[in-house]
Amino acid sequence: MAKTRLTINDIATSLNISKTAVSFILNGRAKEKGISDKLVIKVHKKIKELGYRPNQFAQGLRTGRTNIIGLMVEDISNPFFASIAKEIEDKALQNNYKIVYCSTENDRDRAKEFLNMFTTLGVDGCIIAPTMGMEDDIKELMNNGMDVVLFDRKFKNISNDVVMVNNEEGTYNAIKHLVDRGYKKIAMIALALGKAEKEARIIGYKDAVAEFGLETHVFPLPFKAKYKDYVEDIGQIIKDNPDFDAILFGTNYLGISGLEAINDLGLEIPKDLAIVSFDDHDLFRIHKPKITVVSQPIEEISQTVIDTLLDRLKSTKKDASKKSITLSATLIERESTAAKS
Ligand code: RIB
Repeated sequence: MAKTRLTINDIATSLNISKTAVSFILNGRAKEKGISDKLVIKVHKKIKELGYRPNQFAQGLRTGRTNIIGLMVEDISNPFFASIAKEIEDKALQNNYKIVYCSTENDRDRAKEFLNMFTTLGVDGCIIAPTMGMEDDIKELMNNGMDVVLFDRKFKNISNDVVMVNNEEGTYNAIKHLVDRGYKKIAMIALALGKAEKEARIIGYKDAVAEFGLETHVFPLPFKAKYKDYVEDIGQIIKDNPDFDAILFGTNYLGISGLEAINDLGLEIPKDLAIVSFDDHDLFRIHKPKITVVSQPIEEISQTVIDTLLDRLKSTKKDASKKSITLSATLIERESTAAKS
């Protein structure tokens, strides 16, 4: 049989004091209510002894705060998002907040379910890497008074706090680097959730190839929950275009799937095909040859995101103007883009 959950009443009865006194002590209002330090210590000792854990929801109802932050990303198992989540969690904990995570898998309905869950849980604020079509849901959340910080992706038609990386600059620099190393027939394989021409990473690629007088070869791919499913698509693109001398992959998982496809085809990097991937990943450093990447500043993104939300949560001016912060990605040159022989 399930154990009955201890309540404030049990603490009060065991000490022969009122429920209200216990509640004031638990909510940090003992001094304000003239409750003696001696009683505060006694109550905390009893709480420890009985193993009482406050019901976060009931506490939220009383204080209007749950000290929980909702974090929604594309896929929490992806090392990019997992690393960001861990950094955010650490900083949140230092500020007495806990995190509830979920993954959208770029599915709007799934994302909406989780937004509803955040509301039901009464989270104090949300950090969201949004997927396409979530604008109205996010707007509604904010209209209902929720503090929301977006990162990784943004919407043109909502004004809210957002932390982005300069994706266009990132892919532009990758192409410039490949051109400097002598590559001329450079393709980009990228994730496109909507129209490919609107994706910043694709825009950066296109700007660069146009500037260097090269042909544009963009292969937009839809999101797939199982990254391995990209291997076949990428293999086919490479087989159909044997004259490409370099490929820029738009995300870490496309880069990893690309490496598998290239390996399956028995091609040699960079002799047959030079490679750059957006996002760094352990595998890119360990792989032989090591893979050149456009690395996103994970720590800076995480710190900026959580600091922005904590500032909002502490601020009494709910209508203060929203911040749009853009950070730079860094090109890390490795062996996969050695000068063309
Ligand atoms: O793997 C996560 C990738 O998708 C990253 O490039 C990130 O920016 C995201 O949009």
